[in-house]
Amino acid sequence: MSPMKAAYLPGDSTTVLKEASVPEPGYGEVLLRMKASTICGSDIRCIYHEHLGKGPEGYQGVIAGHEPAGQIVRTGPGCRRFQEGDRVIVYHISGCGVCNDCRRGYMISCTNPKYRRAYGWQRDGGMADYLLAEEKDLVLLPDELTFADGAQVACGFGTVYEGLEKVGVSGNDAVLITGLGPVGLATGMLCRAMGARRIIGIDVVSERMELAKRLGLCDAVLASGTDNVSQVLDLTGGHGVERAVDCSAHPVARATAIRATRKWGRIVLLGEGNSVEFNPSPDMIHDQKTLYGSWVTSIWKMEELVERLVRWNLHPADLITHRFALDHVADAYSLMASGKCGKVAVCFDEELKV
Ligand SMILES: NC(=O)c1ccc[n+]([C@@H]2O[C@H](COP(=O)([O-])OP(=O)(O)OC[C@H]3O[C@@H](n4cnc5c(N)ncnc54)[C@H](O)[C@@H]3O)[C@@H](O)[C@H]2O)c1
Ligand SMILES: [Zn+2]
Ligand SMILES: [Zn+2]
Repeated sequence: MSPMKAAYLPGDSTTVLKEASVPEPGYGEVLLRMKASTICGSDIRCIYHEHLGKGPEGYQGVIAGHEPAGQIVRTGPGCRRFQEGDRVIVYHISGCGVCNDCRRGYMISCTNPKYRRAYGWQRDGGMADYLLAEEKDLVLLPDELTFADGAQVACGFGTVYEGLEKVGVSGNDAVLITGLGPVGLATGMLCRAMGARRIIGIDVVSERMELAKRLGLCDAVLASGTDNVSQVLDLTGGHGVERAVDCSAHPVARATAIRATRKWGRIVLLGEGNSVEFNPSPDMIHDQKTLYGSWVTSIWKMEELVERLVRWNLHPADLITHRFALDHVADAYSLMASGKCGKVAVCFDEELKV
């Protein structure tokens, strides 16, 4: 096969497109024709501006992109389930398969440093014409979902689903979302489907605040400011929200999420990096609150999520505001870095024509 194009992130806020050879699938591996590859906030935070990540977030100069969806064009020997023509999502971390975390389906937490390799971080990811993936990392994409829907499940929507399952969200709950980037917008979308009737969002970027309103993902959108806690109390009869989800990673927004949650409420932190300061007794203990941290999800929960997306008639692709061909991948990363957008996708073939 003639060489393919592939995108790399040197770490100085640029993107480099180079030729690379199309890989040949080995035992238990498949070759995917890439169809949609979306950009996550973590790509910008840890890789694009500067290679800041360490350990599981360490970028090792591979082809970028950890939200891939594509179609199998070749299977290596020993594949047991998936076949040529199958449409698939790639759970974005390949684990050893036999440690306790892998056996639970949480390859994100695989404890074997030799075999734990995330696509787009330590092994080649989805910003190329083709992607080599392990069969055990694949999630079948139902016919009702597009590749652009599926790509976002690989990290963003999977992460949000896991966090919401931890805190539990239903029609009983008012929910606060701090940070309305793609992860925060996905939170709004899934909370709606789970029945939440009062969703309050906070951000600093006007494009994102408007998008959350236009897509009906938030009932009230607040500009980040010092009076956010009292504004949320006012919107919830003075009590605060039952559930809060931080998708900003900003110290002040995290503290708002904790303080604007009512007694017995639950808060989950999804945004990564940075810090937070709060006073355990008044902010947490005396109000009987529970704080969760949540990292990606398990592969079986990802399978459950795609089933529910179909049942709920939800399309993650609705969050995509900009689609780029791989030739314009540099524009895709710089737009995502600006924040003046919803989800940004690099698309191929039929996904580019939408
Ligand atoms: N826990 C996980 O497993 C997991 C998985 C994926 C992404 N993440 C993290 O989730 C976060 C969100 O991801 P994303 O793709 O939406 O990225 P993003 O960086 O585009 O979104 C962050 C949003 O927070 C907003 N923000 C910044 N300061 C704020 C403040 N003071 N108040 C309110 N909003 C504020 C930004 O304007 C932006 O819209 C990132 O930190 C990312 O690394 C975590
Ligand atoms: Zn991610
Ligand atoms: Zn493992």
